[in-house]
Amino acid sequence: MNDEMDGPRRPHVVCVPLPAQGHINPMLKLAKLLHLSGFYITFVHTKFNFDRLVKSNGPNSLKGLQDFRFETISDGLPPQNQRGILDLPDLCRAIPVEGLCSFRQLIAKLVSSTHVPPVTCILSDGVMGFTLKVAQELNIPEFMLFTPSACGMLGYLNLQELEKRGYFPLRDDKNLYDGYLETEIDWIPAMRGIRLKDLPTFFRTSNSSDTMFHYNIDSVNNATKAKGIILNTFEDLEAEVLEAIRIKYPKLYPIGPLQMLLKQLSNSENQLGSIDLNLWKEDDRCITWMDQRDKGSVVYVNFGSLVIMTAKQLTEFAWGLTNSKYHFLWVIRPNLVDCGADVISNDEFVRESEGRGLILGWCPQEKVLGHPSVGGFLTHCGWNSTLESVCEGVPMACWPFFAEQQTNCFYASKKWKVGMEIESDVNREQVERLVRELMGGEKGKEMRNMAVEWKKKAQAATSLGGSSYNNYCNLVLQLKQVNN
Ligand code: UDX
Repeated sequence: MNDEMDGPRRPHVVCVPLPAQGHINPMLKLAKLLHLSGFYITFVHTKFNFDRLVKSNGPNSLKGLQDFRFETISDGLPPQNQRGILDLPDLCRAIPVEGLCSFRQLIAKLVSSTHVPPVTCILSDGVMGFTLKVAQELNIPEFMLFTPSACGMLGYLNLQELEKRGYFPLRDDKNLYDGYLETEIDWIPAMRGIRLKDLPTFFRTSNSSDTMFHYNIDSVNNATKAKGIILNTFEDLEAEVLEAIRIKYPKLYPIGPLQMLLKQLSNSENQLGSIDLNLWKEDDRCITWMDQRDKGSVVYVNFGSLVIMTAKQLTEFAWGLTNSKYHFLWVIRPNLVDCGADVISNDEFVRESEGRGLILGWCPQEKVLGHPSVGGFLTHCGWNSTLESVCEGVPMACWPFFAEQQTNCFYASKKWKVGMEIESDVNREQVERLVRELMGGEKGKEMRNMAVEWKKKAQAATSLGGSSYNNYCNLVLQLKQVNN
């Protein structure tokens, strides 16, 4: 697959992720894959994230390689914006304006430079649609990577229909609590049994001009202008859903799980292994801690990069975990809790969980999930986390928070049978019960077996001749041909 291309004819892809961890990670994996396939890569960060990455990972971390370089654009957010917590509505209002100007300047600079090969393609995140304007102005083909699951995408594709059918805007915010969200939605193909509460959360407002609702609809509609849509999933896992999505996007490339494809295509001399783009400083003390634990004995708890929970929710998780009597590795990001994480330094909690819990601020998640001591994952069901768990054959207890995490949770529990849902109004008794079930119960065992089956299917999809492998080869072919 790796055919070396040199000199000015080497195809040059400019990768533009949304500036959030769950979007940067899959884009980086795809960029590494393309580099292995002979492409010259420019990877675009926002200025803010670039500085933050240098701070977390050291000044050498973003030096890149001669043919894998980093550039920056503005995100348009004013300095006083709370940068520790990414405010998505603010970002979605600012970046299409400021980001567009800044991106236009960057591409103009790259196009006129004699130090880099001519830009042959823009590969942007599906929710960074402003890049399409620049691509059209300069007649550069654009492909898009949508980082959610295919089922999440299908949910987004149906937001507009929710509006047409009168589900959005909510007549009253009380609808969020009165059982209305339990309404079954029976008109979406490939989503049998889905309820309103399982669809991407952005319709849950009585504000008819809600930014996130309209931003997501505009993004999926705008994406029809792209030359192709790439998804981090595989045919076996989401066959029916992918078929439904192909009606809107016939040029669809499901090439996931990206981490498995990357392992498959990497070789030991690959210099890109060292490039990691963690926005928080990774603490790998957990690996030694896990080495000392029995096989399948640890609950791994992580709510990703964007969840903000209340102190009450954190308290319920803390006591549920402690009372389950299992060992737990819990990642509590510095900004996970809206007003401090005092409960974990509370004397009673420390005494009760003594010796059983390890709490960190950020960890090497993929390594953790692949560690034999992990028996289950308590997760928010972000798509990367869900797929990383499936890739390691680890069953999940799911506490979806927002966006399409609810849809991922529905598919993980009802269709793929690898997860169990925790009520949004979390309480310690339920956490304790579900953690015990996940780690030692009959249902936990069944889910673990199913997760191992899906892992095998994912391996087959990314191996030579598998569906993701073939789709990737076709994608590479398209990316090389677009300018010819
Ligand atoms: C989410 C989801 O991507 C997405 O489904 C939704 O649209 C918006 O938010 P996030 O909360 O970041 O993003 O979750 P997830 O998709 O699971 O991505 C988190 C990434 O960070 C994963 O790749 C995970 O391995 C990595 N991570 C997380 C770490 O490396 N260490 C940690 O401690 C936590």
